[in-house]
Amino acid sequence: MAEARIKRLEDFSTLVSLSKRRGFVFQSSEIYGGLGSCWDFGPLGSLMKANVKRAWWNAMTRRSDICGIDAAILMHPTVWKASGHVDGFSDPLVDCKDCKTRFRSDNTESYLHEKKCCNCGSKNLSEPRQFNLMFKTHMGPVEDTGAVVYLRPETAQGIFVNFGNCQASTRYKIPFGIAQIGKSFRNEITPGNFIFRTREFEQMEMQFFVKPGSDDQWFETWKDTRMNFYGKFGLRLENLRFHPHGAGELAHYAKAAVDVQYKFPIGWSELEGIHNRSNFDLSQHMKFSGKNLEYFDEVAKEKFIPFVIETAVGCDRLFLAFMADAYREEITVDDKGQEDTRVVMGLHPSIAPIKVAILPLSKKDELTSIAEKLRDDLSEDFDILYDESASIGKRYRRQDEIGTPFCLTVDFDTLNDQAVTIRHRDTMKQERVPIKGLAGYVTSALKNF
Ligand code: GAP
Repeated sequence: MAEARIKRLEDFSTLVSLSKRRGFVFQSSEIYGGLGSCWDFGPLGSLMKANVKRAWWNAMTRRSDICGIDAAILMHPTVWKASGHVDGFSDPLVDCKDCKTRFRSDNTESYLHEKKCCNCGSKNLSEPRQFNLMFKTHMGPVEDTGAVVYLRPETAQGIFVNFGNCQASTRYKIPFGIAQIGKSFRNEITPGNFIFRTREFEQMEMQFFVKPGSDDQWFETWKDTRMNFYGKFGLRLENLRFHPHGAGELAHYAKAAVDVQYKFPIGWSELEGIHNRSNFDLSQHMKFSGKNLEYFDEVAKEKFIPFVIETAVGCDRLFLAFMADAYREEITVDDKGQEDTRVVMGLHPSIAPIKVAILPLSKKDELTSIAEKLRDDLSEDFDILYDESASIGKRYRRQDEIGTPFCLTVDFDTLNDQAVTIRHRDTMKQERVPIKGLAGYVTSALKNF
C-alpha cells in the first residue's frame, strides 16, 4: 500500500463535531439551546480531562519542593481588593445605542479604525466604560452589598492566602512551590473558539516562592521545565513557542511575563502564562489583612517577603491543544484509485481516555466470555472499552478516532493458544500475546509507547 498522506486539523469545527459524536465535549444545556461558551465534558472527555490534570499534578506535586492544595472557590471579598481584581480586572466596553450590541473597544477593528459599531456600523455609540470580568453573587440569605462575594477569576489567590499555612504545615524551606487545580470564572466579553476561551474553566496554577534576587534565574528554570512538560506529553515542539510580554502587555502584578503559545488552528495563541509576580501579592495581602507573611530564612538569619514565579495553564485549553495536536487524517489510495481516510487521534497514551479496547471477533459466547473476563481483569488497572458490534475493521477505526493506543482481539485461535491479538494504533502492526501476563504487557507497552 502506498504511504499515507497526512492531513492535520484545519479548524475547530472538525473537533467540535468529533467531540460531540464520540463523547468528548458537549455544549452545556444543549437541550435548552445551549448556554453561551459553557461546555460539558462527556464520557471520554471527562476521562481525558482527568488524565490531563493527573499529568500536570504529578509533574508538580511529585517533586520534593512542591505541595498541593485545593482551596475554596468563594473567598473573602477583600482578597479581590488586595489582588487588584476589584479595581483592575476589567475590559473597556462600548454600547451601540441603535442595535444595542455591546462590544470591547480595545480589540474591535471597526471601532479602532472608524469608531463604528461592529454589528450595524452605527456611530451612535456610548463612551467606553470599564466592565469588571468577575462574576458576583451573594453569600447568605440577604442580597445586599455587604453580602457580595465573587467566583474566583484565578486560583492563584487561594495559594497566596495559604502561603503561611502551607509553609508552617509542610516545613518546606524557600524555594518551594504550591500547586492547585480548580475552577475559575470570568465573564469574558468575547468568549469562543470552542473550549479555548470560556466563562467557566479550570486552571492549573503553581506559585513558586523564591528569595528576591533569585527570581530571574527561577523564571528561566520554570520556562524550561514547562516546555519540557509539553514535549514529554507529546505536543509537537514545532507548534510551541515562547512569547515574551512587552512593557505594555504586562499584567498589573507582573515584573516579567512570557506566554507559552501553541499554534492552534486560529493561529499562535496563549496556552500558559509564566509570570514573575515579584512580591506583589504577598505584600498586598499583608497590607489588607494586617498579617505578617514574611519568611524567615534560618540559615541567613534574615526576613523577606518572597518573590513568586507563577506557571498558569488552563486545563480546558491544554485539553484542546492535545486534541488539536493529535488529530490527523491518514489518506491512502489503493490500486484501483479508491481513496480511504483513517482518522487517528495520536494522543500520548497517558492522555488518551481509553488505554485498551477489547474486541471479541464474534458475538459467540465462547469468545465473549473470555473477552468479558479480560475486560473485568484489565479494568482493575486501566481504562478499558469493550466493543462487540460491527466488523473488526470498523471497530479498529472507532478506537483510532478516540486515540486508544491498543486494541485487543479475542478470536477463535484464542480458544487453543490462550493468546490474543494486540493491534497498535499508530503502526497498525499486530502481534500475538499470551493472556497470562497481559496486564504486565500493557503496562510496559504504555510506558515504552
Ligand atoms: N494567575 C494568573 C492567571 O490567571 P492568565 O494568563 O489570566 O493568568 C492563565 O490565565 C491561563 O488560564 C491562560 O494561559 C489560559 O490557559 C487559561 N485561561 C484564562 N482565561 C481563560 C478562559 N476564559 N477560558 C479558558 N482558559 C482560560
